[in-house]
Amino acid sequence: MRWTERQVAMLAEMGIRLWPDVPAPQGASAVEVLERRENPPEAPPARSDDRAPPAVEPRASERAIGARATGVESMDWTALRDAVAACTACKLCKGRRQTVFGIGHPRAQWMIVGEAPGEQEDIQGEPFVGKSGQLLDNMLRALGLSRHATPSQGQGAAAPLGDPARQVYIANTLKCRPPGNRNPEPDELAQCEPFLIRQIALVQPKLILAMGRFAVQSLLRSSEPIGRLRGRVHRYQGVPLIVTYHPAYLLRNLEDKARAWDDLCLAADTLAALERA
Ligand code: URA
Repeated sequence: MRWTERQVAMLAEMGIRLWPDVPAPQGASAVEVLERRENPPEAPPARSDDRAPPAVEPRASERAIGARATGVESMDWTALRDAVAACTACKLCKGRRQTVFGIGHPRAQWMIVGEAPGEQEDIQGEPFVGKSGQLLDNMLRALGLSRHATPSQGQGAAAPLGDPARQVYIANTLKCRPPGNRNPEPDELAQCEPFLIRQIALVQPKLILAMGRFAVQSLLRSSEPIGRLRGRVHRYQGVPLIVTYHPAYLLRNLEDKARAWDDLCLAADTLAALERA
């Protein structure tokens, strides 16, 4: 493959090896458009953009704890998004500006699972838009991946849908911001887990990248340190799952960036091997 100058510069800066088989990214902007493709013609107009404001949510002062919609396990994307937006099943609903659902291709081959929204995500309603998101985007770009569709792949200016092999889907274990960016608590993870499980079931990814210990705890039920779990292929309900460091951790521990890059290369190799099989 050919690396763009930008990729090479970035990777060199990180001191990491190149994974040779991936086409260079074409850059882009885009949005998730599942409903537009999958809703029948008589269905109500689809929400075309993960950045769109969420369904009307009650003000914090009006929220009571304890309600999560039932039947999450059989919801379609629209119902799931609405259920997340209306969820008051744990105390995090009290402090959120909005829920942070997920972004990317609704049938992406790569699904990235992070931890929880931070301040920027809570403001913008999209996962990984802060500093750690920039690092994540750069690392994905180095593999020819993006949360967005490329313009040339898009199906329309308003709501492009990209190549599912190149446009990833990103979701968090928690859909609401923990106050002060503290760690998720067990009851919060438990209440939010059905949403993530349903997102995975709808995306049907070929590969899951679990970033950080809370994603790993949720998906692998393991509290082993990341350092002991990374470097091999795990399975989540039969889907290959690669464990790697959380980007926020990498921003504080630059020396582990090379290991994180190795993890991404392992993920890409795993997917490539699957495609060949
Ligand atoms: N960290 C995460 O795990 N998820 C986000 O969306 C932002 C920061």
